[in-house]
Amino acid sequence: MSIPAIENSVNGRNVPELPSLDLSRLPRHIAIIMDGNGRWAQQHGVTRASGHEAGAKSVRAVVEASRELGIGVLSLYAFSTENWRRSKLEVSALFRLLSKYIGIELESIHKENIRVTVMGRIEGLPARAQEDLRHAMELTAGNTAMVLNVAINYGARAELADAARKIAVAVCEGRLQPEDVDEACLARHLYVPSLPDPDMLIRTSGEMRLSNFMLWQLSYAEIVLTPTLWPDFRKPDLYKAIAEFQSRARRFGGR
Ligand code: FPP
Repeated sequence: MSIPAIENSVNGRNVPELPSLDLSRLPRHIAIIMDGNGRWAQQHGVTRASGHEAGAKSVRAVVEASRELGIGVLSLYAFSTENWRRSKLEVSALFRLLSKYIGIELESIHKENIRVTVMGRIEGLPARAQEDLRHAMELTAGNTAMVLNVAINYGARAELADAARKIAVAVCEGRLQPEDVDEACLARHLYVPSLPDPDMLIRTSGEMRLSNFMLWQLSYAEIVLTPTLWPDFRKPDLYKAIAEFQSRARRFGGR
């Protein structure tokens, strides 16, 4: 994946200068709620599907910038368990876009030694999306430079309910004792248990909600909000968010 030159202007918006970062204090895991595609589409007088298409360009830019910086894990909220309430047209456009993105980007993601993981109820997705995601996960399973963790058909409450069910089955089958069920045990039954908790959460478009995203894992994450709509979000916006993260004092409940 070649690292593109920094754009001075994205979608007609001037992008800020790159702030300098302390490379010894980068977040290990960045989670992003990519919000604002619909409002961006409205502002530009195009369909919501075109807004998501524009959002896919930001995904590319942020994956490249994160890989280049040496971020360990990037989690992206692509489709929630609540997003099924959108029109059929928009839902099918989103899944078509996902398959198109995988078709175009998977080779370079693999070449860049990035591992793809998927967090969510994969079995509830359309067959084509399941196939493409499984292929991406299998192809990149041995990669070690960065994890691109895609949350799709994901809800944190569903994840916790699914973890509780797996634990209940293990207890019923005698593989686990009730007294073994503690925080570490629950964490081991999440969708992708190998990932460290996110250090920071970025939400674009000015909204200030968690929207059922990684509620367990985000317990101590620094939350960074930006008014920038997701399709306008680029490398300088990511750097600015990381600079804000680096300005915070993290105490994890201590002093
Ligand atoms: C939220 O904006 C965005 C989504 C529900 C979908 C995110 C999907 C992409 C960025 C497409 C590509 C993703 C991958 C992983 C290839 P919204 O539609 O809720 O915006 P609004 O709040 O302005 O209506």
